Amino acid sequence: MSDKGPVPADSPESGAVALIPAPVRVSVPGARCVIDADTEIDAGEGAERVARWLRSAVGAATGLPLAPYRDGGGRIRLRIAPALADELGGPESYRLRAEGRLIALDGASAAGLFHGAGTLRQLLGPEAFRRAPIGDRAVWEFPAVTVEDGPRFEWRGLLLDVARHFMPKDGVLRYLDLMAAHKLNVLHLHLTDDQGWRIEIRRYPKLTETGSWRSRTKFGHRASPLWEDKPHGGYYTQDDIREIVAYAAERHITVVPEIDVPGHSQAAIAAYPELGNTDVVDTTALSVWDTWGINSNVLAPTDHTLRFYEEVFEEVLEMFPSRFIHIGGDECPKDQWQKSSAAQARIAELGLADEDQLQSWFVRHFDTWLTARGRRLIGWDEILQGGLAPGAAVSSWRGYAGGVTAARAGHDVVMCPEQHVYLDHRQAPGDDEPVPIGFVRTLEDVYRFEPVPDALTEAEARHVLGTQANVWTEALEDAGRVDYQAFPRLAAFAEVAWSRLPAPADRDFAGFERRMAAHYPRLDALGVAYRPPAGPRPWQRRPGVPGRPIDGPPPSR
Ligand code: ACM
Repeated sequence: MSDKGPVPADSPESGAVALIPAPVRVSVPGARCVIDADTEIDAGEGAERVARWLRSAVGAATGLPLAPYRDGGGRIRLRIAPALADELGGPESYRLRAEGRLIALDGASAAGLFHGAGTLRQLLGPEAFRRAPIGDRAVWEFPAVTVEDGPRFEWRGLLLDVARHFMPKDGVLRYLDLMAAHKLNVLHLHLTDDQGWRIEIRRYPKLTETGSWRSRTKFGHRASPLWEDKPHGGYYTQDDIREIVAYAAERHITVVPEIDVPGHSQAAIAAYPELGNTDVVDTTALSVWDTWGINSNVLAPTDHTLRFYEEVFEEVLEMFPSRFIHIGGDECPKDQWQKSSAAQARIAELGLADEDQLQSWFVRHFDTWLTARGRRLIGWDEILQGGLAPGAAVSSWRGYAGGVTAARAGHDVVMCPEQHVYLDHRQAPGDDEPVPIGFVRTLEDVYRFEPVPDALTEAEARHVLGTQANVWTEALEDAGRVDYQAFPRLAAFAEVAWSRLPAPADRDFAGFERRMAAHYPRLDALGVAYRPPAGPRPWQRRPGVPGRPIDGPPPSR
């Protein structure tokens, strides 16, 4: 390290190179580092894919060839050094030493190398985030640095709700790039809901023929009188999904698919009416839902439904190699099961106490089924009701309580409390906020979000795999609206998930804002339609479209 020695992650000095998320340690000795047409990439064993990414991303932006190493004037040396995992912060750690014409990047794994390569791109400046050179700059110079870094959490997630409003494949690939630029590593794809089924299942083609589109859409919150009177839809083919998964893997991002059961299933029931509670409602009359809210049309707890979804999951497992498979489990109203003689007969036959236990039985079925196939079930915190399946992990969304209960019982948890990291919620109190939903959660609020509940002991807290920001899209009709809600808050969230920040009250938000001044130009270069600090641009507003703001501060931890 330099004579100044290591500096803490969020100190003003780390702002000299304005890295986001802040690294564990950075030192800036005062010299310069240079890359140019003579800079070559010397990729050691296991570093080839990171070299390919550097060439495709940084090479495209700079116009530099970044040729394989022979004996060039400059060198980017990529090496895998597993011992760094113990020294720094696990398998995603890296050390980057850049001075003069040598950039030496060591990663505890290929993922660590990739994160270090992302840091290098930030050092090169905002133009390094474009897809082609915008000038004829031949020499790219930046402050010499040593960065030592590794993440706080292994699960640094983003949920994209592609069910309520479909995000075409190119948009998902773009979000994978945006996630990678922020060292996020789990994309939770919410693929099915009442309003749409977004993934091709070969065995059940009507899921997409019928289930992937609706004839009109509520514009604004469900109480809004407005409709968008045009068909909305779309889905990913299996090849699209394979491309998304492979593109994510190149960026060391895992895609966790969510097939939401037994609630949030009207699109599936519209396609295959026998999946619904046919003794309670005429499910043949259902169509894909065109408005928002919690829907009573839930799956019937029959053997047929179980087999149907096993077959769906068989195809899902072929497409998604992720260890975790999300089965939803949230917001399943029990009124149809209460009225259904078939559901009641099932409760009696299984010797269950009530409908909560029936849901628990349903979830346990898929826990066993996934475990037998070497995968792990994860679901929303409602899966705690009626008893949690033994191997299950929990996405704690209704606050911290579900995460606390689950971690105390020895289950892994991902913290994504709606009061803090639901990015569809508004980010300022003003009337200009488009379709204002939920609590006001400013950039600073997100920066001060603490994923680990105070109530947990150190041993229990080890079950917190990490944290996730959720972007629900009822009020986000296109990619521009998704960008507006996600950014800049996703940058603050990424720092919460990656960096070893002090307790919320002690976090240097002013220092973060100083680094953000260098980060907005990166977002501009990436084409992100973020919310400007001064408020929405005219075309980012949605005057007259009703939302549902919730007044007052969100409940505390
Ligand atoms: C959820 O927000 N219903 C998980």
